[in-house]
Amino acid sequence: MKKIPATQLRVGMFVVDAGLSWMDYPYLYQEEGEIESQERIDAILAEGFEEIFVDPSRGSYAGLEDEEPLEESLLQDADDLARIPSRKVSFKEEMGRARRLYTDSLQFAREFLHGARMGYLVDYSKSEKLVESVIDSVMRNDDAIVSLTKLRDFDEYSYTHSINVAVLAVAFGKNLGLSHKMLRALGSAGIFHDLGKAKIPEAILNKPGKLTEEEFEIMKSHPQKGFELLAQQGGAGEDVLLGVLQHHEKHNGRGYPDAASGDEVSVLARIIAVADVYDALTSERVYKKGMLPYKALSLMYTMRGEDFHTGYVERFIKSMGIYPVGSFVRLSSREYAVVSGSNISVPLYPQVIVVLDYMQRPCTPRQVDLAENRGDSSHVLEIIECLNPKRYNIDPAAYLM
Ligand SMILES: [Fe+2]
Repeated sequence: MKKIPATQLRVGMFVVDAGLSWMDYPYLYQEEGEIESQERIDAILAEGFEEIFVDPSRGSYAGLEDEEPLEESLLQDADDLARIPSRKVSFKEEMGRARRLYTDSLQFAREFLHGARMGYLVDYSKSEKLVESVIDSVMRNDDAIVSLTKLRDFDEYSYTHSINVAVLAVAFGKNLGLSHKMLRALGSAGIFHDLGKAKIPEAILNKPGKLTEEEFEIMKSHPQKGFELLAQQGGAGEDVLLGVLQHHEKHNGRGYPDAASGDEVSVLARIIAVADVYDALTSERVYKKGMLPYKALSLMYTMRGEDFHTGYVERFIKSMGIYPVGSFVRLSSREYAVVSGSNISVPLYPQVIVVLDYMQRPCTPRQVDLAENRGDSSHVLEIIECLNPKRYNIDPAAYLM
């Protein structure tokens, strides 16, 4: 799948619905299916759509090249994250604490989003304590709390999304080598990035159909409104405020509210933008399935240097691992496994738990570190493909607990 400008749309191309919200991506055309006529393209352009996700492997248009393979392009310089200190505690050891923290954070998100809608101030000092705990958890073992971002209920999207963005941003920020002070600001900006949506009328937020131009304008004011809410009540530093204000700005200057570009977009906002889109793509919603993490990362890779600042998606993928924890994969041994831990210097070879044999029969779960047996080239065990666990009746969460 890749993202193209609407002007490059051709008859026979297959449009994909990535499930991104109309509200946040007003110029993204997402009606899934093959483009059947030039009239359709003219209408899409006339309606003001600017960009489209297309699937080069579907549809009758033959001239479309697929995106570059993710692995090859990333492995060329996979070393720059390899100096990251190893994890202090095991995944299992961290998981209990991470779970409690994630539940507490979710409760906080419910409270402040409801409160803000009623006109109450947010409890900023409470958010600071939670962010501090998220940083501690990420420092001990980032795989634990990051894996929880994919195991949640889809009907609570707005709450889980704000916490997930904070968690993903802090984990990414840690792997970028940001200071503790920066991580604190990043976590707060993540939690509150969509606070301004509390000031958008529910009729617009929940409108099932397409928004009018006027409604889009109101929707696009949410970063500014969030910035104002936080600024009014005090507590949040300038970097946090800027992170909230600019989280929909793009590297190419085609974002909002100020069409800022390049260096005008703060580092925190660039990181939040990556975490925001990744969580939106991979989330299951009432009306759509979540995209597999591997797919979402591949798609975001095609947006590098345009939507995202140069180097950020690339580093995010290395930080998450090409196969994030919780991914369900088929191995070269023809067995099936759940990814249980990342190996940051060799992202193609994570730790896995083998759960089905080559006949797709359940087997006694067996932990394997794919990085460990890479030496003997005749017996290299590797990942062949990433699969949808639901089709195999597998719940990855059950194996990670
Ligand atoms: Fe937003």
